[in-house]
Amino acid sequence: MTDTFAQDVLKGLTAKNKYISSMYFYDDNGSRIFQEIMNMPEYYPTNAEFEIFSMQSKQIFEALQFSGPFNIVELGSGDGFKTFKLLEFLVNNNVDFHYIPIDISQQAVDMLTVSLKERLPNLKIHPKVGDYFEILKANKASDYQSLLLFLGGNIGNYVQEKVDQLLQLFNENMKTGDKLLVGIDIKKNPIIIHSAYYDKHGITKRFNLNLLVRINRELDADFKIDDFDFYCHYNPITGDLKSYIVSLRKQVVEIKALNQIIEFDYNELIWTELSKKYSLEDISSLAKNSKFNLNKNFLDCKHYFVDSMWEK
Ligand code: AVI
Repeated sequence: MTDTFAQDVLKGLTAKNKYISSMYFYDDNGSRIFQEIMNMPEYYPTNAEFEIFSMQSKQIFEALQFSGPFNIVELGSGDGFKTFKLLEFLVNNNVDFHYIPIDISQQAVDMLTVSLKERLPNLKIHPKVGDYFEILKANKASDYQSLLLFLGGNIGNYVQEKVDQLLQLFNENMKTGDKLLVGIDIKKNPIIIHSAYYDKHGITKRFNLNLLVRINRELDADFKIDDFDFYCHYNPITGDLKSYIVSLRKQVVEIKALNQIIEFDYNELIWTELSKKYSLEDISSLAKNSKFNLNKNFLDCKHYFVDSMWEK
């Protein structure tokens, strides 16, 4: 893991336009800061998706149209906060299904399992840790139909090429009639989006600068955190929300584990994240281009977020 981190940091910080992938936000500290983000009133996606599952789990279940027992495979289950409402509805209505949460973090999966066993003792849960590909391949061999969950707007963190690869991976590992429920952040008033990411509490700034703290700790670097700032920009035409770390002075940073000196110009940027927003038309095209049929869109009451159900 650290090796890949080291290689990716080296590649990103020696590139002409510096970048570090947002997947490296989520060390223990970063995961805690992300929880703080999700608790901010300005960060609407979590509440919007929670509302969708709280109010529309029955409709989501009915739209599945599975005739027998089925699997729910959640890709990147995290703390399972939103999914709980769907699982609760199904368990309370004696629906026969197996829940397979997948995450890269053993700790996250363990915590989720303990909490769900306590809150929903009748739930049949089979947690998995690791690579989506292997687990999805094994799931395809199951006799049951499957509902894949890819929630939280995570799809927005992938650039177009990676989105296409990921959706192709899902599609190839689904059986005809299986469903994919994708949580997607919708284009809306740019001011609402801007406030959710350029937050006045400085939590998203801390989330970004934690990348430098992580490089200092894991790769023995000497980033002076106060000499860097955070900026993000939303383009309402393309739907791209891009986040950056900004160097506040011309400076030099040593990364001992990489045997590298990295030079930063005054105001030089490190691109850290894409959080792309889609229109409902964009979502129809995305489904079609990745060979899915869009069955139904489940929106929250403000139309800020959609859980879009696609069928293979
Ligand atoms: C995890 N992901 C969908 C979040 C998002 O909205 O892009 C991560 C995040 N970045 C800043 N705030 C939240």
